[in-house]
Amino acid sequence: MKKTIVSGIQPTGSINIGTYLGSIRNFVKTQVDYQDHHFFLFIADLHAITVPQEKQTLRKHIKELAAIYLACGLKKDNLSLFIQSEVKAHAEMNYLIQCFTYMGELERMTQYKDKAQKQTAGVTSSLFTYPALMAGDILLYDAEYVPVGDDQKQHLELTRDIATRMNNKLGNVFTVPKPLIPKVGARIMSLTDPTSKMSKSDPNIKSRIHLLDEENIVRKRIMSAITDSEGVIKYDRQNKPGLSNLIDMMSALTDQSPEAIAQSYQSANYKTFKEDLAEQVVNTLKPIQERYHSLINSDELDQILDDGKAFAEKIASRKIDKLHHKLGLGRKRK
Ligand code: AMP
Ligand code: TRP
Repeated sequence: MKKTIVSGIQPTGSINIGTYLGSIRNFVKTQVDYQDHHFFLFIADLHAITVPQEKQTLRKHIKELAAIYLACGLKKDNLSLFIQSEVKAHAEMNYLIQCFTYMGELERMTQYKDKAQKQTAGVTSSLFTYPALMAGDILLYDAEYVPVGDDQKQHLELTRDIATRMNNKLGNVFTVPKPLIPKVGARIMSLTDPTSKMSKSDPNIKSRIHLLDEENIVRKRIMSAITDSEGVIKYDRQNKPGLSNLIDMMSALTDQSPEAIAQSYQSANYKTFKEDLAEQVVNTLKPIQERYHSLINSDELDQILDDGKAFAEKIASRKIDKLHHKLGLGRKRK
């Protein structure tokens, strides 16, 4: 078996430019940089139901995300694209991993603390054990690398700890994975509040740009993004978070450093810079949207998801069998 890369995104809302720049763009780059690796990429629908979801909306977002991955430029070669819940080993692995995960470790997870606070109707136990499900996703396929945004770093560290612990106890069963976090774009902030992350769940729709948004909406959102009243173009995340966030977006889109962007706009005003950024975003989204519309209702997309499922199932079920054996579950094989 080749070396592997694993990642996933939750189908919990329409994909925005933060997820694209912080995550999907990095998947595309990772696929080019590691052509000799096999990439297991999935739609994390089991993760999505750790908080309440509406059935029809969830279904829609699952399919949408599958088409978006491909529309953003991921190539079918060396890729298994699948839906997490369709590969039953993920749910089973979650349980096995929980048997090696400590309460104290889960209690320290900042994402859990943030998300739990927002659950007014009660916090599910699955939200608490979410990192064990995620560790299982990764360890099932012996991922060498896991491309994620900055906010998943802590979950990755926990995954490494669990893998090491299980390797020590059971003999080498897992590859210990390494995160791949992009240098720029790893944390794109809200357009209306640059101190918080651009998020699918922000009730203020003006805080983000969706990948499928129409051109006039994209331009409007960028032109009205919060900056400051100083009127000087400078990259300073501390004192100019709004403007610096826009510079980060431009930087991630054009593969130039934020400092170089600030330099080249030093004598421009905010309006000119914003217009150029809007143009850049529109030009990036146009081909993605075209590919998306030709894929979303195609048989090709279903075929890709079926093939992805079949291959993932084969690899994952082998790992589950091996773990059962190492743990002494069931009967001894003859
Ligand atoms: P989410 O969209 O929150 O389910 O996250 C999916 C992936 O995108 C994760 O790897 C996140 O770290 C990344 N991500 C989500 N939102 C942002 C953002 N605003 N900036 C950068 N990366 C993000
Ligand atoms: N927890 C990740 C997020 O919220 C999604 C995810 C689930 C994931 N399983 C994963 C990412 C495995 C990488 C690898 O973005």
